[in-house]
Parts: sequence; C-alpha cells; structure tokens
Amino acid sequence: MAINFNRAEFVLSAASPEQFLRDGRKQLAFAGRSNVGKSSVINRLLNRKNLARVGSSPGKTTQINYFLIDGSIYLVDLPGYGYAKVSKAERDRWGRLMENYFQESGLIDVGVLIVDVRHKPTADDVAMCDFFRSGSYPMVVVANKTDKLKRSELERNLELIRETLDLDESELLVPFSAEKGDGKEQLLGLLRALCE
Ligand code: GTP
Ligand code: MG
Repeated sequence: MAINFNRAEFVLSAASPEQFLRDGRKQLAFAGRSNVGKSSVINRLLNRKNLARVGSSPGKTTQINYFLIDGSIYLVDLPGYGYAKVSKAERDRWGRLMENYFQESGLIDVGVLIVDVRHKPTADDVAMCDFFRSGSYPMVVVANKTDKLKRSELERNLELIRETLDLDESELLVPFSAEKGDGKEQLLGLLRALCE
C-alpha cells in the first residue's frame, strides 16, 4: 500500500551519534544550505504547519530530527550547512554531528538535496550532491522557492542548477515551492516510488 504522508509524527531530535535511529526503517535524509527551506519542504509534504520547526533566522534546525511517516519510513531533517553567523564552537558541533551521520554507512536510503532555485548552487551544495551521488542509494534534488521567481526565469535557473551540480538527464530535479505547494505531488510520487 502507498505510504500515507498525512500520518506523521515527530519521534526524536538526535544531538549525538548514539541517538541516531538504526531500526531498519528506511530513512530519507533532507540536506541543504541553512535557510533553504528543508524544514518547510518537510512540513509541506506532510500537510503540517510547523511539525518541523521553521525559522525566520537561519540555523533553526540544530539537531537531527526524525519524523516517522505512516509507521514505516523516516524523514530526517538535517541541520543546514553554510551558515556563518553562529559561534565557531556551535559550528564545530554541527560539523561533527553531520560528519558522524554522513560517515556511518547504512543510515541513508534516499538522499534529498534541497537547493535554492534562485541561485547558482554553492560549492557546499556541489560537495553535498557529490556525496549523495557516491552513495549506493538514489538521490532527488529539489529546487525550492520557485514562488520567488518569475515564470520566465524558472527554466534558465533549473538549467543552471543542472549544470552546476552536473546532473545528467536520469537524475531527478524537482521544482518546488514549500510556500505555495508547487511540486508537492511530483515529489511525493518520486519518494513513494523510491521507498518501494
Ligand atoms: P535551517 O533549519 O536553518 O537549516 O533552515 P531550513 O533549511 O530548515 O529552512 P526553513 O524551512 O526554516 O525556512 C527558512 C525560511 O525560508 C523561512 O522563513 C521559510 O518561511 C522560508 N521558505 C521556505 N521555503 C520557502 C518557499 O518555498 N518559498 C518562500 N517564499 N519562502 C520559503
Ligand atoms: Mg530546518
């Protein structure tokens, strides 16, 4: 049966590797720059307002948050990278947490990379994409905040994202607006298919 994304519950915030979930359920890891809208994309997919906490200032998500969907898979909301305005100690803590998460094999079943559709992907985005691509699991790239672009700019920006991340035609790039809901059914369809 298709996974029902409307059945979602928050399970746990992991602040250290001992707390990572390893119960055999599939895990869909949402990664991307701070403030790009990872938590907002998750809320939109789940039809929830603020299950994943959204911030007006970057750096809102500082731990690894797990949401259990329909009792069967986890959406994993990761802290963003590339946010300079936190203390070095805090940045180091996130860095270690993320490193532990990404280095442990078997934790990720689908990599979801969120980028900002308005901008050329950063060097960090490219590194994140290459990391997901080097894994033995599928990856989806989501170009978020399409509501902030004119329709005429969309195609050009998607092309720039494809080029910069070096995506080939078989690699999935989904235009999305967490704000308006555009792309929701397409992304849900892809994630469902990848979880089967
Ligand atoms: P961190 O947890 O800090 O890594 O950020 P995040 O990637 O989880 O971003 P978050 O979901 O907290 O959103 C950051 C800001 O962008 C918030 O003010 C959101 O309301 C806004 N935002 C997210 N998605 C969209 C979108 O599709 N369109 C618009 N216009 N704003 C968005
Ligand atoms: Mg967040």
